[in-house]
Amino acid sequence: MYTLGIETSCDETSCAVLKGYRVLSNVTLSSLREHKKYGGVIPEIATRAHLVNIDQVTRLALEESGLSLAKIGLISVTAKPGLIGALVVGLNFAKALSFALKKPFIGVDHLLAHLFAPFLDHQETLKFPFLGVVISGGHTEIYRVDDFNKVKMIGATRDDACGEVFDKVAVSYGLGYPGGPQIDKLFNPAYCRDFKFKCGRIGFDLSFSGIKTALMYKKIEFEKKGTVDGRLRQRLISSFQHTVFETVVSTIQEAAEKLKIKTIVCGGGVLANNYLRRLLKAKEKQGLKMLITPRQFSGDNAAIVAGLGFYLYNKRGLSSSFRLEAGAS
Ligand code: KG4
Ligand code: ZN
Repeated sequence: MYTLGIETSCDETSCAVLKGYRVLSNVTLSSLREHKKYGGVIPEIATRAHLVNIDQVTRLALEESGLSLAKIGLISVTAKPGLIGALVVGLNFAKALSFALKKPFIGVDHLLAHLFAPFLDHQETLKFPFLGVVISGGHTEIYRVDDFNKVKMIGATRDDACGEVFDKVAVSYGLGYPGGPQIDKLFNPAYCRDFKFKCGRIGFDLSFSGIKTALMYKKIEFEKKGTVDGRLRQRLISSFQHTVFETVVSTIQEAAEKLKIKTIVCGGGVLANNYLRRLLKAKEKQGLKMLITPRQFSGDNAAIVAGLGFYLYNKRGLSSSFRLEAGAS
C-alpha cells in the first residue's frame, strides 16, 4: 500500500510518499527564513506559509515518487501536538484529500512519529518494549513504549524544551536562530568543562530554564568586565552544551536501568547534534542498544508521519473520523 504523509505542526510544510515502510519521497519546505528576524517561530506566519505551500509540496512529493494521487491508499497526517493554526491547515488538507479520493485518513501524534523515524526503511528492527526519547524544539520527553498505541510518559521537561533552550541561548549570544545547529558548530570538546553549570532534575523530569538564565548572567558578568571575546563565548557555549547533554544522557540511562529496558529509540530535531549522537552511541559500550534517528529524518518531516500512520492503520485497521480536531487525541 502507498501512504501519503502530511506534516504541518510547526514551520515545516512536508509531504511524503511511502510504499509500505519504504520512503519513495519526502519533500519539506520550511518557512524558517521568515521567522529568523524574530528569533523564533511566529505561529501566524507559519500558518500562512503552510496555506501557500502545501499544495506545491504535495505535488512535488507525488512527482518524485512517480505516483499519481489515485494510487494512494492511506493518508496520514499530524493531528497533534503543534501550533494550532498550523495543524489545522495540514489536517483539513488531509481530510479534503481523503473525502475526494474516498481513501481513509489517520491523524497521528507527531512526537510518536519522531520515534518511528529509525524504523523507516528498517521495519524489521522494530521490537517492543523500548524507551522512547523525544528531544526537539518543543518537547523533551521520555516514554516507555510497549507499542505505538501503548505509550506511558515517564519523564519530561518541567519548563523549556531542550531545543528551545539552545535557541534562546544562541539568540542571547548573538548566534542567530535556530541556535541548535550554530551551537553544534561552535562546540569544542576541549572547552566542555571550563565552566560549571547545572540542569535541574526531579526523578526523570528535567529543567533547563536555570541553565539558560545562568548563561545569560555569565554573559552580562563578562560584558561588565569587558572581557567577552569569541574564544570566551565558545568556552561558555561548549560547557553549556556539554552540561545539557550529559544530564539528558544520564537521565536516559538511569530510566532504562530502572525500567530494565535495554533498547533506546531517540528522535526529534536535536538528534541532529553531533555531540549528542556521540554521547548516546558511547552508551552502547555499557550494554544499551541505541536506535538514533538518521539525520535526514531528525527534524519535522512527513515520512515519519506516514510511517507511523501506516503502522497504526495496519495494527488497528481503523482510520480517523472526519470529526477529529487538531490538537485532540
Ligand atoms: O523536531 P524539530 O524539527 O521541531 C520541533 O518539533 O520542535 O526540532 C527543532 C529543534 C530546534 O530547537 C533546533 O534548534 C534543534 O531542533 N536543532 C538542533 C540541531 N539541529 C536542530 N539542536 C542541536 N544541535 C543541532 N545540530
Ligand atoms: Zn518535531
